[in-house]
Amino acid sequence: MTLRPFCLGTVWPNIHIVSNRLAVGTLRTFASPQVIAMTFSEQLKNQLNIVDVVGQYVRLKRQGSASRYVGLCPFHSEKTPSFYVNGSLQIYKCFGCDAAGDVFQFVMEHEGLTFPEALKLLAERYGIPMPQRAYADDPEVRSREALLEMHEIAAEVFQKNLRSPAGADARQYLESRGVSKESMDEFRLGVSDASGQQLASRLQKFGPSLLEQSGLVLKRENGTFFDRFRARLMFPIHNEGGKVIAFGGRALRPGDDPKYLNSPETKLYKKSTVLYNLHRAKIEARKNDRMILVEGYMDVIGVYSAGIREVVASSGTSLGIEQVRAIKRQVSHQGTPGQVILNFDPDPAGTRSTEKYIGSLLAEGMRVRVLQIPGGLDPDEYIQQNGAEAYQKLVSAAVSYFHWLADRAKEKFDTRTADGRVDAFKSLLPTVKYVSDPRERAAQASELAEILKVERDVVHAALRGIPVETRQRQEDLSASLPPNEKLLLGCLLTSQDARQTIVEHLRKVDMLAALQTRNIFEATIELENAGVPFSMEALSARLDEREKKIVTEVSFAELGIPEDGALQQSLHCLEALENTAVKLKIEELETRVAELDRQGNMEEAMRVLSEIDRMKRAS
Ligand code: UTP
Ligand code: MN
Repeated sequence: MTLRPFCLGTVWPNIHIVSNRLAVGTLRTFASPQVIAMTFSEQLKNQLNIVDVVGQYVRLKRQGSASRYVGLCPFHSEKTPSFYVNGSLQIYKCFGCDAAGDVFQFVMEHEGLTFPEALKLLAERYGIPMPQRAYADDPEVRSREALLEMHEIAAEVFQKNLRSPAGADARQYLESRGVSKESMDEFRLGVSDASGQQLASRLQKFGPSLLEQSGLVLKRENGTFFDRFRARLMFPIHNEGGKVIAFGGRALRPGDDPKYLNSPETKLYKKSTVLYNLHRAKIEARKNDRMILVEGYMDVIGVYSAGIREVVASSGTSLGIEQVRAIKRQVSHQGTPGQVILNFDPDPAGTRSTEKYIGSLLAEGMRVRVLQIPGGLDPDEYIQQNGAEAYQKLVSAAVSYFHWLADRAKEKFDTRTADGRVDAFKSLLPTVKYVSDPRERAAQASELAEILKVERDVVHAALRGIPVETRQRQEDLSASLPPNEKLLLGCLLTSQDARQTIVEHLRKVDMLAALQTRNIFEATIELENAGVPFSMEALSARLDEREKKIVTEVSFAELGIPEDGALQQSLHCLEALENTAVKLKIEELETRVAELDRQGNMEEAMRVLSEIDRMKRAS
């Protein structure tokens, strides 16, 4: 299952890690007082039913066995249901768009929430009291909290510097760029001290290990620390929950390189997942079903101050899939694709990014528009020169990505000639493949032909040539499993009786080596040995990503296991698999005999032969 590994900057910073770890031990046993209790998320999950929770958002119909439900997927638009909920394993999966997870994942995706926010919402909705703090003694939790505290201190120090006499130059610089006092406060802008000692000494009490982990300071050869950011304008970067987790620092002195110095990756800061300003933008983005994506911190501040709050930037990296999905969580609801407006700098780099991101956003099923500002200005500069209202007008008038691409093609090809027009048209076709709805695709192609003045026949001929590229489907990992093994796994996942029988059988009979999914069976045996009740979390905690995926696939596969016949079915499978295991073993021994024969070791060869004989007679 794909729960977030941990959640940044929240009251319950890594409940999930904790819950994974707990699930492995002999926990969930309430009888003995010295046993650590379940985490809150586990307790909550035990009291919720995913069928009930999902049922509040999706009309579900029971299908076949008592605990399987199906409905229209809320995460992509569809007319025939491919969204399944498994009540006995408490998970969901959509076979159309590959969305999958547990009850928390569902609420996170559906409501656009972080993990702790989803916990809170469910706890409140179901009237389950929530502990204020969990697992403060966990060293992992403690170090994350310390790192957050260090970032908060740093933000305060930088802010104070900006307000002090020493910050006069930086203040003046910001004012000259039209950043108001309110915006400075709202974005918590600051300035780092030029000495290189201020933060290092303020944070000294956290000790060398945390200092190094924080990314806020650098270590000298003699082991002492100095500030990473010196005499720079500081932009705090927040996580989705609004905690400071990193900084971007803009050079103030001419010649200071680089122009922007960003925090390195730390425990708190994973660049490819963070969007600058997301915690402020999300509310408005959800309301308006759209997000504006710009290139720089200053652009975000400019656009936000112009009254359009749903604006984010990736911080110094190109937009990754997790960032695309974070945007999608905010803007797409109930199968309605949200809209993203790309507003990058009108230079070659900005144009390249725009071209690239159109594809990644379309592939995630979002609508894309492009705002190209006239006169070679970036959003921040345009707003400075023309005001908020003029910018808002440009946003409303932003063209569909199609028109923008057509304009780019017109620049590249000579569209005065018929051949040039056809070439221009053809250069745009690769983008059409991302549009999966055939009618929409045809409509867009016609529109494109219209814009470029290309014959309709050419359009239709060209369209026939390209296959529909649906969103990337993951390969079915379980497809290559031997049928009996897949069935056995299915039984193990659906029926408690079958599970017990399988575990007992595997304890007695040496056949695990013949199973491709040996680890999954072994993990189940281990759970049983440890007295841990079987659950998806407990099992997942012992599996790698590939194995987890197989488990999810098999638990939703139509295996035709009879409703009350899982036990019987599993006995059949065990017998068949045991025969296969014996056959494999015999083959192995026969190879060994041939080898011994070649080596002239007849005595040993005879011994192995008699073992083969014994095995053949026994089976
Ligand atoms: P820009 O140079 O367009 O920044 O880079 P900007 O925000 O418009 O800044 P001003 O207007 O010149 O003050 C866009 C973004 O690329 C990243 C930063 O996130 C910046 O906001 N960047 C840029 C870096 O990480 N390092 C750099 O050296 C330059
Ligand atoms: Mn700029």
